[in-house]
Formats: sequence, C-alpha cells, structure tokens
Amino acid sequence: MSNYHIKNLEEYYQIYRKSVRNPENFWEEVAEEHFIWRKRWDKVLSWDFTKPEIKWFEGAKLNITENCIDRHLRIRGDKTAILFEPNSHKDKAEHITYMQLYHRVNKFSNVLKDEGIKKGDRVCIYLPMIPELAVSVLACARIGAIHSVVFAGFSSTALSTRINDSDCKMVITSDGSYRGSKTIDLKGIVDEALERCPSIETSLVVKRINSEIFMKEGRDKWLEPLLENADSECEPEIMDAEDPLFILYTSGSTGKPKGMVHTTAGYMIYSAYTFKNVFQYRENDIYWCTADIGWITGHSYIVYGPLANGATSVMFEGVPNYPDFGRFWEIVEKHKVTQFYTAPTAIRALAKEKLEFVENYDLSSLKVLGSVGEPINEEAWHWYNDNIGKKKSPIVDTWWQTETGGIMISPIPFATPTKPTYATLPLPGIQPVLLDENGVEIKENQVDGRLCIKFPWPSIARTIWGNHERYRETYFSAYENQYFTGDGALRDEVGYYRITGRVDDVIIVSGHNLGTAPIEDAVNEHPAVAESAIVGFPHDIKGNALYGYVILKEAGESRVHDNLRKEINQIITEHIGPIAKLDKIQFTSGLPKTRSGKIMRRILRKIACNDTSNLGDTSTLLNPEVVQEIMDNVL
Ligand code: PRX
Repeated sequence: MSNYHIKNLEEYYQIYRKSVRNPENFWEEVAEEHFIWRKRWDKVLSWDFTKPEIKWFEGAKLNITENCIDRHLRIRGDKTAILFEPNSHKDKAEHITYMQLYHRVNKFSNVLKDEGIKKGDRVCIYLPMIPELAVSVLACARIGAIHSVVFAGFSSTALSTRINDSDCKMVITSDGSYRGSKTIDLKGIVDEALERCPSIETSLVVKRINSEIFMKEGRDKWLEPLLENADSECEPEIMDAEDPLFILYTSGSTGKPKGMVHTTAGYMIYSAYTFKNVFQYRENDIYWCTADIGWITGHSYIVYGPLANGATSVMFEGVPNYPDFGRFWEIVEKHKVTQFYTAPTAIRALAKEKLEFVENYDLSSLKVLGSVGEPINEEAWHWYNDNIGKKKSPIVDTWWQTETGGIMISPIPFATPTKPTYATLPLPGIQPVLLDENGVEIKENQVDGRLCIKFPWPSIARTIWGNHERYRETYFSAYENQYFTGDGALRDEVGYYRITGRVDDVIIVSGHNLGTAPIEDAVNEHPAVAESAIVGFPHDIKGNALYGYVILKEAGESRVHDNLRKEINQIITEHIGPIAKLDKIQFTSGLPKTRSGKIMRRILRKIACNDTSNLGDTSTLLNPEVVQEIMDNVL
C-alpha cells in the first residue's frame, strides 16, 4: 500500500493509525519513495517541546529546487509548471514549462550570486503575483539564500520592519503592480521603506507596468539586463535538512510580527504529501490556488507543494471582480481548472453577486474545491457546493497556519464525507487534542476546547527568527508538552473537528491574520488619540471586521469626528496596510479596565457584536460606569 494516494475512508483510517503508531516510520517511507536526496538522513526525528527543539531527517542533504524542478525535466520538461494568468483578461496567459522554469530559476540564481548573495543570506521579496515572484523564491532556494516574502499589500513601514527584523541584504521588487483597473507604485513604497533599512545593499527591480520610477545609483538595478547576461545553469547549493528555507512573518497578539522559520526537508515532504492527498492531484490536472504567494498558502500550495509533484499550478495576478465578478469562473473555464482553492471571504463576496456571473461559464472541469484561512460559514459552504461544485466536487475545508507549514485538518476528497463548516479529520501524522481551561486533555467527543497538537510533524516552524524564547513562550508554554495553535475547536460525535476561531487577540479579517496590538499602536500615534482598544465583530463578507474604541486626549476635540476617523485609518494604512483599516470607530471617554489596569476586551467585544444581554461579571472593573456610556453610543 502506498502512503501517497488515499482512496477511501477505510484506507484513511488505516494509514492514519499507522502514522500515529509510528510517525518516524511513516514519514521515512514518504521521504524514501518520493524525493531525491544527495545524502540520506542519519535520524528521522528528534524532538523536545520543552526547549523547544524539533529536527526532522537530520544529516540528510538535498536541494528543494532539484525536487521541484530538475527531476521533472526528463519526463515533464514540456509540461506547464506555472500557468500565469495576468491581471487583464485581454492579455495572453503564459505557460511556463518545467524546462523554461529551470532556465529562468537558474539564471535568476546566477544573478543573485553575482550580486553577492550567499547561502544563509536573507532576501526580501516584495512583488506582485507575477512569474518573477515564484522564480525568485525558487532562485533563493537554489542557492541556499533564505527568502522572506512580504505581501505586496503591506505598507512601507510594515515592509521596513520585516526587512530589519531579519537583516535582509537584498530586496526584489517591481516598478509597480496592477490591481484590477488600478496600478500601485510598489517601487515608491520600497524607496520609502529603504530609508530605514541599513542592511539592504541592492534592490533588483522587475519591469511590470513600465512606469517612470526613481532608481538609486549603486543600489537599484533593473533585473532584465542582469538576467540577459546570466548563465542558464546554476549548480544547486547542497543544503542540510534543517537549514532554513524561508522566513514568513505572521501577526502575533502582541509585539512585532513573528518571523516564522521553516526548514528544508521537513517542509518539502509535508507540503508535497499534503498537496497530493488533499487535492487528490493527478498527472494532467490543472490546479489553481487563488492565494497570494505573500502568504503561507501561496508558498506551500502555489509553489512548493505543486511543483514537488510535477503539477501545473495556476498563478493569477488579478482580483476576483475585474473586469467583473465572473473573472474566477472565466479562468476556470479557459484553463479547464480541476482543483480550485480559495478563501471564504472571496466566496462570500462572489455569492453576493448575480448568479449569472457563474452561469455564464462552463465549470465542468472542476473536481475538488478548497477553502482556507478562516472558518467557512454554512451559507457560503452551500453556495460554493451548489453553484461552483454542482454538488459533485467535494469541498476540502483545510485548517492550518503559517506556523504549521502545511494543511493539518482536512477532508480527503472522495474518502472523507464532508460536513459543512467542519474541517473534519486530521491528516496522517497529525495528532490534534482538545484541552480544557486547565490544560487537561478532553478525550470524549461532542466537546469544545483549545486546539493543540501533541506530536511534531515535518513542517512545523522551528523557531521565530532571532527570538527563540518568543517561539517557546507563544506556542509551547500555555500547555505542557503541547503545540498550542491559538484556536478553539469543537469535536463532533464522530471525531470531526470544527474550528471555532482564535482564542487570543488575533482577528482574522478577510482571511488575513491581524494582531490587535500593532493596530492599536498605530492608532495611538495620532496626536489627538490618548488610548485605543480594537476588537473584532462579525462581517458578512470579511468574516470579521475591526471595531475601534478610541479615547481622545481632549474630550471636546474640535475637529469633526469623521475627519478624525479618516485620519486614524490613514495612519493604519501607513503603518500596516489597508487590510487593517477599522470599519467602525467609536469615540469614548474611557475603556473598561480591571483594577490592575487591563482592558476588559471581552466586554468590548460583546458590545461591538451587539451581544449585550449577558456581559458577564463586571464587578472587578475599576470604572463600571463607562460600560453604559459605551453601550449607549455603540455604532
Ligand atoms: O484561526 C485559524 C485560521 O487562520 C489561522 C492561521 O492564519 P495564517 O497563519 O494566516 O494561515 C492562513 C492560511 C493557512 C488559524 O489559526 N484558519 C485557517 N484555516 C482555517 C482557519 N479557521 C477555520 N477554518 C479553516 N479552514
């Protein structure tokens, strides 16, 4: 029996049991069967969640790009690896074969080397969804440089914070980007960021929108001429299994963003294994994930997972509503997409529009539909199932995190019966547990609790860049010997998991993880603001939206409140990006605080959600009178 393609529920349970009985053997078999190694490992796993230290396939040597590109050349050289669909539907799609990808990545690797990038150096990539984004990620991996992709919707401040946190030597960007009918001045954002980034020596600039931009002498270089002169063969750097492959930042509930570090072998094996099983990928399928490579979903399920399987992966530069709300379905029809993977927020936005946008297109090629990033509500699940999958394509509701590197809980299509809003069962090798408030494992079903994982899997992040103590504290200190996910979940009578949401101060808005603390810090930068507290409230399309309670320094602030609201959102846009803007801002004279000075967010959350019938115990508040004032003025 191969571990690779799970065909029915019985086989799933069989493989699952085997995988948890002896995880080392299980993953060793996967590693042996499906990848190429320059040297075999000495030890499959060593781990200690108290330090925490986790190592998979120690002693093994490999290069991930040999697994994602070189080994496919003989049998799949002419097969499309990346199918690029540009922002404008009028522009032609680009089919990049495995052979072409090989040459493009090799050339790019040589440019990086010529520019002085060596194994272990950090390279920041701030690009729109164009082929150079995937190529530059792979080029870094080929020479052993650690890529740190920053989503190109982040502001210059957010970009500089991330560049400085990991002392990147180079940034790769473009003159600008297309977003529907608009263009964005990416290079301008980078220029602003680089005023505060002393570690950057070079910025490579891809020409995308042909705009007039400033090029700083000695620092900024157009990529094209460098590529023209570069050799198209570049020997891959031979990496240790545990050498870092990339850093990817995610929000925490407090403090600056956390640079999650993923290492080479474990990440490769897990992203490849889960890609093949969760999407039931077959050789001639056309797979499309609509995420941005700036997020973990794009890393694992646009680039590494699909390419490690020799798949064709669609990469879309545009947005779902340009030129109209039928764009996704037009692309599905045009390329005969077989697996389609998107976020609930996109589904909800499309479900609000006329059904004609769907009905105009032939979606019969679809076999599997995916959902990721936030809980999918029942209504959206049914709309997706009825109108896109026509009730014949199973929906895989995949639960995972930047930190987990790959999908953890998900149905296996055609094997696991789906259930709306349930991510269902753990994938092989994954051992989830639910804990009560005291950290005691709840064994029975039909309960809810805090979701933890009790045994390591190959693609668990190994540390937070430059701050191992924060890694320990965030994920391994809440409960002994457990990886704590920060999520709550419930388990039904057959053992299916339903993720109920974050139990910390992270709010997921349109599938994006946002920590409240950095947004509050930005709001507090406004000269008129004394203090602020931000909570989430349910939103039809975004899942959650942000509600800010703001205390002004002078109660009788003369400016009109609407102007202040705009200014506050402008500051947030500058510090973080437009994704973190507040939907509602309520000015208040105080915030409910405990005697120790902590803001009681629970109360603020309930008020913002219009759920004030039972505010719970307010007797420990220092200023209970403020609660009534806030309730009276709720927006
Ligand atoms: O709360 C969970 C939610 O997204 C968080 C992870 O966010 P991020 O690191 O940005 O990664 C997103 C893409 C993997 C989780 O802690 N989440 C993710 N997928 C689901 C989900 N919540 C419910 N259902 C999901 N399928």
